[in-house]
Amino acid sequence: MTKLPRYLLRIVGLGSQIVIMLGLTLVSAAAKDGRDVYDDTCVRCHGLLQEQTSWHQFIPADGTTVDLAVVTPQGPTLNGIVGRPAGIIEGYTYSKGMRAFAETDAVWDRATLDLFLTDSRKFVKGTFMILKLGDDDRALVLDYLERVAVYRP
Ligand code: HEC
Repeated sequence: MTKLPRYLLRIVGLGSQIVIMLGLTLVSAAAKDGRDVYDDTCVRCHGLLQEQTSWHQFIPADGTTVDLAVVTPQGPTLNGIVGRPAGIIEGYTYSKGMRAFAETDAVWDRATLDLFLTDSRKFVKGTFMILKLGDDDRALVLDYLERVAVYRP
């Protein structure tokens, strides 16, 4: 009576370890996509992407218009960032460096985003955002942004 449950417990214990190991293998084998990179790296400062047709407004089925929050806890929204001119989010106080960059009529296209995410402070001197993203993550997150965050003024 005392031996059997202990024996069973060991099997159950071993079983769950194997299940956990299998789980880890599955997680690491599952391909990471750009949304994962965005959620892991950008969301805490830039907030969720609304993935809507307009970068600043959401039009529900009843036809009313809801303005989306454009200032997130730490950074400007990235809704519609691909093709968006730099530094245009009203109500967000950009750094001097980003304002100077915006004055050159800079636009966030794939090339400028790529350079910015490679080494943000090297590309935009004096920016508040400090980030260096590796090649793979950069390519993934740029694919994602091109899918869901195209500028439609
Ligand atoms: C630690 C917070 C933080 C993280 C993480 C972060 N950012 Fe930023 N980001 C900022 C801040 C703050 C600014 C405003 C910079 C300034 O004014 O110099 C900014 C600005 C930007 C801009 C310029 C926006 C505009 O309106 O011109 C882009 C593009 C951008 N971030 C992309 C990203 C992407 C993509 C990621 C994830 C890969 C990311 N950021 C991660 C804080 C962050």
